[in-house]
Amino acid sequence: VSGPELFRVEEKDAREALPVRRADSHKGTYGHVLVVAGSPGKTGAAAMVALAALRSGAGLVTVATRAEALPAVMAHAPEIMGLALPGDGPLGKGDLEALKAALEGKDALVMGPGIPRGPETGALIGDLLAAVDVPAVLDADALNAVAEDLSVLRRAKGPVVLTPHPGEMARLTGKPTKEVQLHRVGMARQLAAALHVTVVLKGSRTLIAEAGGRVFINPTGNPGMATGGTGDVLSGVCGALLAQALPLPQAAWTAVYAHGLAGDLAAERRGLMGLIATDLLKGLGSVWVRWG
Ligand code: APR
Ligand code: MG
Repeated sequence: VSGPELFRVEEKDAREALPVRRADSHKGTYGHVLVVAGSPGKTGAAAMVALAALRSGAGLVTVATRAEALPAVMAHAPEIMGLALPGDGPLGKGDLEALKAALEGKDALVMGPGIPRGPETGALIGDLLAAVDVPAVLDADALNAVAEDLSVLRRAKGPVVLTPHPGEMARLTGKPTKEVQLHRVGMARQLAAALHVTVVLKGSRTLIAEAGGRVFINPTGNPGMATGGTGDVLSGVCGALLAQALPLPQAAWTAVYAHGLAGDLAAERRGLMGLIATDLLKGLGSVWVRWG
């Protein structure tokens, strides 16, 4: 599929939008990302989002998660700051005030990987996005939560990026995964327009659809990236670029291109079979050096 409204992301487009690291800058210049992610058994998801954001230039990264999961998340890296969400069990309306307070002074939100999801999680996300004007990336179980009632996204004050894989896109649209894969461009474009969000439909040749109708197709990435955690890394990269004030859809296509290129560079060392998600963190370094 091609046409006037379908564009291929070129390396120069991704590279052009990169934030400049000024000599007289400080960590406040590069934004503070709040990551709402992780639960017992899924602490690595939160850590990979946070590390990807740190490796993509964010000035500060804080992970908000249940107290029982927090030590394991933070043990992954000393650069990660942590905030325990009081209470236990699935994220719900009782977490609203704590999350609103956590978002004060933050420049971007990434929410979803490994979160404990329950019947109130979608409503919580809606209330949170309606209360704060911060760019937000929703991934993984945050997507599955809002899929139950997509109208919660219409109340969002700030720009929203959804990063579904085809299975999550199927839940968001109520269509079978097979149909999503047959009509990727149309489905991504339609969802972005209907919800006034940016949709990043992942998989081989990830698509970035903006609400205005344009769709961008990404050429980087490889099947070595079909391994747990690579999606978490993407949401972290995207959050970091939003925190550095890249506008949409540039922030999304730059994140997707860089993430895929990180995978391509990492695969040269690890092979498609050997590649794991944390290799992408090193690959990102190679991307920034190449673009520096
Ligand atoms: N070619 C290029 N890129 C690919 C390919 C491929 N063949 N396969 C995967 N990728 C990329 C995707 O574009 C995306 O950026 O790898 C990333 C995979 O992201 P996700 O599908 O979100 O995977 P992730 O969340 O890291 O791990 C799987 O998702 O469905 C849940 O419960 C499941 O926990 C599991 C998790
Ligand atoms: Mg995922």
